[in-house]
Amino acid sequence: MTTLTILSDEEAKAPLISLNPTHTIADIDPLIYGGFTEHMGRCIYGGIYDPDNKNGLIDEKGYRKDVIESFHELKVPVVRYPGGNFVATYRWQDGIGPRENRPKRPELAWNGIESNQFGTDEFMEWCKLVKTEPYLCLNMGTGTLEDALAWLEYCNGDKDTYYANLRRKNGHAEPYNVKYWALGNEVWGPWQVEQNLKEDYAKKAIQWAKALKLLDPSIKLILCGRDGCSDWDRYVLQECSRYIDMHSIHFYHGDSSHYPNISGPYAAERAIQITSALIDLARCEIDLTPFPDFSKISTGPRTAHRPTICFDEWNVWDSERAPGDKGAEELYNLSDALAVAIWLNIFIRNAKDLGMATIAQSVNVISPLMTSPTGICKQTTYWPLLLFMKYMHGKSVAVHVRTGAYKGKTNPEWIESTCTVPKLDVSAAVNGEWMHVAVVNVDEENSFETELSGVAPASGDIQVFKVGGESYSLKDVNKEGNETIKIMETRVKGEETKKFVFERHSFTLLRWKV
Ligand code: AHR
Repeated sequence: MTTLTILSDEEAKAPLISLNPTHTIADIDPLIYGGFTEHMGRCIYGGIYDPDNKNGLIDEKGYRKDVIESFHELKVPVVRYPGGNFVATYRWQDGIGPRENRPKRPELAWNGIESNQFGTDEFMEWCKLVKTEPYLCLNMGTGTLEDALAWLEYCNGDKDTYYANLRRKNGHAEPYNVKYWALGNEVWGPWQVEQNLKEDYAKKAIQWAKALKLLDPSIKLILCGRDGCSDWDRYVLQECSRYIDMHSIHFYHGDSSHYPNISGPYAAERAIQITSALIDLARCEIDLTPFPDFSKISTGPRTAHRPTICFDEWNVWDSERAPGDKGAEELYNLSDALAVAIWLNIFIRNAKDLGMATIAQSVNVISPLMTSPTGICKQTTYWPLLLFMKYMHGKSVAVHVRTGAYKGKTNPEWIESTCTVPKLDVSAAVNGEWMHVAVVNVDEENSFETELSGVAPASGDIQVFKVGGESYSLKDVNKEGNETIKIMETRVKGEETKKFVFERHSFTLLRWKV
């Protein structure tokens, strides 16, 4: 949680960040730093799996070594698969067994052909290589409950049953124990094969949830929400929250102008808060009609079970600039990197409500990592992501910020009158004896000498990691072999740090021992 005092333009020249490392708010779930790999564009083929690469970039199985190394660097805790929109017509059975027998199928989400050369067993093998946990999304478009149960049995079955035995026959003796399963993807969307009405989806989701948990009670189920601010979200939570563990929401934004571009994540922050309220509304609702006897009406929550939010698609994405059916290969600039840093601040500030978040996506498609036949580029957005994934763990800490604010056009427009877009966007986290403060200065022109209250370490220096700043332009991008935007590391004397200059258009992470 960050509270704000918004200053006038004159006062805004002297901002303040105030915190106390003991003022912890909530545990940060490490799963908020998840990834997402979809059969879309060059994410799987040419991204994580590139068997035809002739430049020594793959291992003996065809997996890209540079991608694996990047995942190791990031320590990605969980990866969602196989879609996204792709999943609505996906037959998982096509992607197992000997490769030469796997059918090619029309792919209706992105208008392509799916070769099925990469499927469940390859994804599990890759997850093991990159040391991450799989999160599978079920096909609730053309797929049936029977298919879903079969996939769960194939992945997690440990008994002498057909699909568990099929997995063994395919060379995988041990169950994969996939814990996270999503009940469909964006099934509300008009672009979906088998788009659903909320009433139909809710009925179906309850039946699927019951059956899936009968087969494997250890799994966690993720309900298909929308953007968190819709009647779809309200209704499906109301009907299904007792049967599920997380509620999924998605949001993308993007604008070629800087301030509208960095304003987008505040819509997501509001969506998290609204979804959190909808979750409680669903838990607290008391149905009066069947209870003539008032003594039987519970006044407390109907259930102690409180689902969390799974923000399993988030990022900067302008789908006109980088269309989905053309591979959605966004080239990210410094402004986008700052937007991503704000997204991550938002996740830390709202840690109480978040059970998972997976950036969309992890390789090539709207991604911080871009491969080519000759190498890999870590885009501008990679660097704030890396800093958060390395350091922003443990507990979220309350912060008060006195800062100026941007006033003007936002994207989406509705947040202009709903949310504040501060010049300094801040979150803080304490992890054992290490304190971290993440600060985005979004101002295009002004660096801010900022008073720091409660920041002085008990002893030693403050480590400073900076991305962007005075010597860069907001339009700067990284190219393979020429990554100009990256992390710059310095140190400042701890006891003397009463003020710190956050450079214009920069992201800074301060780290010290409490
Ligand atoms: O991540 C790209 C696409 O965006 C996903 O397939 C879909 O779920 C969303 O609309």
